[in-house]
Amino acid sequence: MSNFKRVLVTSALPYANGPIHIGHLAGVYVPSDIYTRYLRLKGTDVISICGSDEHGVPITLKARKEGITPQEVVDRYHALNKKAFADFGIAFDIYSRTSNAVHHQTASDFFRKLYDSGRFIEKTSKQYYDEEAACFLADRYITGTCPHCANENAYGDQCEKCGTSLNPTDLINPKSAISGSKPVLRETLHWFLPLDSYEPWLRQWILEEHKEWKTNVYGQCKSWIDQGLQPRAVSRDLDWGVPVPVEGAEGKVLYVWFDAPIGYISATRELTPDWEKYWKDPETRMIHFIGKDNIVFHCIIFPAMLRAEGSYILPDNVPANEFLNLENDKISTSRNWAVWLHEYLVDFPGKQDVLRYALTSSMPETKDNDFTWKEFQARNNNELVAILGNFVNRTLVLTSNYYDGIVPATGRVDDYDREVLEAIPSYRAATETALEGFRFREALKEAMNLARLGNKYLADTEPWKLIKTDPERVKTIINVSLQITASLSMLMEPFIPFSMEKLRGWLNTGKAVWDDAGRNDLMKPGHKVHNPGLLFGKIEDEEIERQIARLMETKKQNEAATAVVQPEKPQVSFDDFTKSDLRIATILGAEKVPKTNKLMKLTIDTGLDIRTIVSGIAEHYTPDQLAGKQVSVITNLAPRTIKGIESHGMVLLAEEPGGRLVFVVPEQKTGNGNVIK
Ligand code: MF3
Ligand code: ZN
Repeated sequence: MSNFKRVLVTSALPYANGPIHIGHLAGVYVPSDIYTRYLRLKGTDVISICGSDEHGVPITLKARKEGITPQEVVDRYHALNKKAFADFGIAFDIYSRTSNAVHHQTASDFFRKLYDSGRFIEKTSKQYYDEEAACFLADRYITGTCPHCANENAYGDQCEKCGTSLNPTDLINPKSAISGSKPVLRETLHWFLPLDSYEPWLRQWILEEHKEWKTNVYGQCKSWIDQGLQPRAVSRDLDWGVPVPVEGAEGKVLYVWFDAPIGYISATRELTPDWEKYWKDPETRMIHFIGKDNIVFHCIIFPAMLRAEGSYILPDNVPANEFLNLENDKISTSRNWAVWLHEYLVDFPGKQDVLRYALTSSMPETKDNDFTWKEFQARNNNELVAILGNFVNRTLVLTSNYYDGIVPATGRVDDYDREVLEAIPSYRAATETALEGFRFREALKEAMNLARLGNKYLADTEPWKLIKTDPERVKTIINVSLQITASLSMLMEPFIPFSMEKLRGWLNTGKAVWDDAGRNDLMKPGHKVHNPGLLFGKIEDEEIERQIARLMETKKQNEAATAVVQPEKPQVSFDDFTKSDLRIATILGAEKVPKTNKLMKLTIDTGLDIRTIVSGIAEHYTPDQLAGKQVSVITNLAPRTIKGIESHGMVLLAEEPGGRLVFVVPEQKTGNGNVIK
């Protein structure tokens, strides 16, 4: 840090084609906000840049599907997402957008500078063209079968099933996403950034000079570099985006991943006329907050672009996070498997900090991590309410009860009080070290440990008992507790800013200053504090169950929507079929087979005899639902011994895609032993 004068924090520009969910928040925006708030409290010159990424094929595809213009799509989500970030206290200095004029100009100039200095390779190649729609099919405009995993819905740039990045020509059975027709190959001219020629430099800059980067980031960079870098096309045949600023390039725009990161520069220009000091002064430290799917773009491609341009600084660190799952399943916009910020606020109004806290606690810093509603509830009830809220509340209520809200001067000071006072600064140091290393979970834990200390201190000293016998000591205890509370209001501010603003209101103190945290004279004797309200409220089981039920409903709908019919088996001859003896029978009795979950022992009247059949239905029916039921059986199967029981035949069942089993029954009651033919 010491060689830097200022910090430029960027957060990945989210695509303006869908709302923001907890995965975005935990992966990128909560960490970037914690970091920025921390630096602001330190008095560092820092700006935080973000905005909407408004180009790219998913946006035009969505517009086409909904019968509106791409501009209408991005206007809708830009407004929604800008508000969601503001609602959650993600305090960007600017939330810009890449469809605006400043950005078009900046990106266009950037391209032109590289073009004029001969940094691109110009190459004609064959690309898929839709003759019906009369246009080229870039990226997601083309779908087909993945050559790696046989997924039939892979895109021209990536297979979402196996994660492989693809070229359109890799796809088997390519199909146009516009007309559905089979595309043809046509020649077209594009500009390529020769990444291969930056390889030695990238190797040196990342693999030698940035060994301190997170292992997940460093590892991905190493593997890209070791695999050998290829020239990358930076233009596309599309009509939505920044036009390629070259004569004869009509109908071509900059590739979205070329223009989007330049959006960080455009947004800074929009924010301040002094933008160049953030981008061109080597004493500025640039940090990119991103998710792991963005690593190659921010660590390899954008730096190569910046280096080619020549006048800009490079990122000093790229603390990318892994992914957050939701209730053991990958978060997915298309499957609606997510917690959307705007919906969360409807169900938990005013509880932004609880989500920020829970997401920081399970932030996917080194590996993918899971968000569960039960854990969310536990974090709130057992930590925010029971530790932090409880401590702050007891301290302020006791101050009000005993001293009318006036901070008491310390009275008699015991060894224990001294020990606690002396320990307070170490919590700031520990929190700070973790924050500087981008270890946000650890930082939060260290800050919360100060609240734990305070709670223990009150529990050990029991001022509510001492007030009668040793009022001089109680003055000390309350004074010390107030010093801890004041430090907490600073240390916790980056994590839960709304609550700490409230707390500072009750403490009646001014602006938080990071380096003051840990001091033992923050609350001066004679200073008046206010009666506290409730910092956090308990979250009840019903509220959590409602969320889980909503997700289960989503899961059911998704299963129904994707239910696949099992493929047909090979043909059998009529003679083979008639070898099976299928009959109507009645279940006389049923009992679960001990020590198994699935198996039920059935006593069955087949009309031929009374026999035993073991059937795998115990998870779907109880014994008393079965007695008397008329079913279909195959009677002449060779007997099999299952869990020590000899089974003579099989009951016919239909299996639903979700795995549920139902009986195949005659349409009306009929005689046992009647043959099915
Ligand atoms: N829109 C991209 C995504 O959501 C991120 C763009 S980051 C930028 O994955 F650097 F390109 F702006
Ligand atoms: Zn695949």
